[in-house]
This record gives sequence, C-alpha cells and structure tokens, in this order.
Amino acid sequence: MKKVNNIAVLTSGGDAPGMNAAVRAVVRTGIYHQLNVYGVMYGYRGMLKNEILPMESKSVANIIQRGGTILKTARCKEFYEPAGRKKAYENLKKHNIDGLVVIGGDGSFKGAQKFSEEFDIPCIGLPGTIDKDIAGTDFTIGFDTAVNTAIEAIDKIRDTADAHDRLFIIEVMGRDAGYIALHSGIATGAEHIMMPEHKSDVDDIIADLQANERRRKLVNLIVVAEGHETGGANGVAEMIKHQLPNADTRVCILGHIQRGGSPTCQDRILASRMGYAAVNALLEGTHNVMVGIVNDRIHYTPLDHACKAKQEMDPEWVKMCKILAS
Ligand code: F6P
Repeated sequence: MKKVNNIAVLTSGGDAPGMNAAVRAVVRTGIYHQLNVYGVMYGYRGMLKNEILPMESKSVANIIQRGGTILKTARCKEFYEPAGRKKAYENLKKHNIDGLVVIGGDGSFKGAQKFSEEFDIPCIGLPGTIDKDIAGTDFTIGFDTAVNTAIEAIDKIRDTADAHDRLFIIEVMGRDAGYIALHSGIATGAEHIMMPEHKSDVDDIIADLQANERRRKLVNLIVVAEGHETGGANGVAEMIKHQLPNADTRVCILGHIQRGGSPTCQDRILASRMGYAAVNALLEGTHNVMVGIVNDRIHYTPLDHACKAKQEMDPEWVKMCKILAS
C-alpha cells in the first residue's frame, strides 16, 4: 500500500455548522500520525488558484464551537470541467499532496469522485450539509444544528401565533429534501408538515383548517419545505387565502439563519468522529469513499454511491404526524 504523507482538507458547497469541528479533527488526527496537513481555502476554487496553506495543531484551536468554516467555502463550476481538475491536480502536486478530504454535499462528492478517477490522489468525502440528503449515512454534519435553530424559531412563532389566533406558514430549508421540515415540524407540534417526499393534498389541509376554525382552534402552524411543489410558504399562502378568508395568516421564511450558529453537541461529535475516521481511512488504504455513520458506527460508501439519498418518508412517521397534531 502506498504510504500517505501529505494530506489536504477543504470545505465545499453550502456551509454547515460542524464543518469546523470536522476540519479540526482531520488536522489533529493527521498531525498525530505525523502527516503534513494543508488547508485549501474556498473549496475546489482554492485548489484551482493554489490557495493551499500548511496547517498546524494551533491553526484549528478554538474553532470546534464555531459555525461557518475557517477554510471558507464556494461552489466552483470550473472544477467540473476536465481542464479545471487538471489545474487543481497540478497545484496539489506542488505541495506533494497525496490524500484529500472533501467536506461537503453530493455535488462536492461528484467532483471528488471524478478527480479520484482521473488522478492518483485518493479522496475521502465527509457529508457536510444541513439538508441530510446524502445516501450512506444516518446523519450529515449540520443537520442537527439547523433543525434546532428552526425549532427555536418556530417555538417563538407559536407564541405570537397564539397571542393573535393566527395561522402561520413557515418555510424551512432543505433544497429538494424535506428532512428539516419533518423533524422541526414534529418537534414543534406543527398542525401540518409539507415536504417534497410526501404528496400533501392542499384541499385536505384546507378542509382540516376549516374544521379547526369551526371548533375554534385558531392557532395553526404549517411547516413547509422550500422544495415543496407549491413553491414554498408563499405558494401555500396563495393557495389557501381564498378558501380561508377569515384566517389571519402570516408567512415566515426562516432562510439562512438555519445555516449559521454554534454546532450542537451531536454535530460536534459527528464531525469529530468523521474527521478522525477520514484520516484513518487514508492511512489504511480505504480510498475514494464517503465516511458516514450508520447505526452509530462508521460506515464507508464508495464515492460513486454517495449521491443524493432516494427520498422516501416512512409512512408510519406521516401517520404519526397526523395523529399527534389532531
Ligand atoms: O444545501 C444547503 C442549502 O442551505 C439548502 O438548504 C438551500 O436550498 C441552499 O443551500 C441555499 O443555497 P445558497 O446559500 O447558495 O442560497
């Protein structure tokens, strides 16, 4: 097996709370094993521009609790072209880098997979996205924090909704996945949860809200995923406003606050375990895989399978939501 001596780590795509904890784990595990560790700034863009800096143990001091990413992040179209990847490879070679850890989402893994097929630098992916939409892992770095941020906000919305007897339609992130909506909706007792994976009949929701109106249940929260077919919270509001003329309705789009903030305990631990496992994988010769956590154990998925998770909602969860919100 070829020995690894110099590794690099980067964060790519949308930032997610816990990315810093993962970077810290990669750097410190690498140093423990006497590797030279480099940080690539701005994801793949930094590879193309040769923004590659040596890292020491103290470079990652005081970051485990911080949101965002000290390595910065970007989405880089050029890396998806063969010429871009060649340039990136040549820059990595200038630093003799022989192992790369990519922290990001499925788009970042596609890039890493192509790169590892074309060049002799093994890549390890760590799932860093608030959306939790990656196959091969039960959780992604940032999801738990994002959901907790959403919960805190929705609880506050319920206070004001309750004071005014209002219907609130709250939009959460997730791109085309509904996990943030599902988890935050259950945890805040939302009356309705609308997510792309589960076709929700708007007429049924309206009928239910009308029934609630009749029995003077005037506070209702609808949590809708941004990727829902109605076009998110504004789309839902538009659809129901004519049929519920008496409802005092407000829309709240939570937006990017869900991406920021200090990572939760779960995200810090997940990121630490994954970062540690990534370096071990490179040392053991387990190459071109994504590190996931399945049933609380480290699990490797080949990069070419670490794509967007096929979205399915457990029908039992859907049934439970209905029962508990009635
Ligand atoms: O993938 C993370 C995510 O926050 C999605 O939930 C959201 O749709 C998207 O990124 C927003 O991207 P941007 O920050 O580029 O607007």
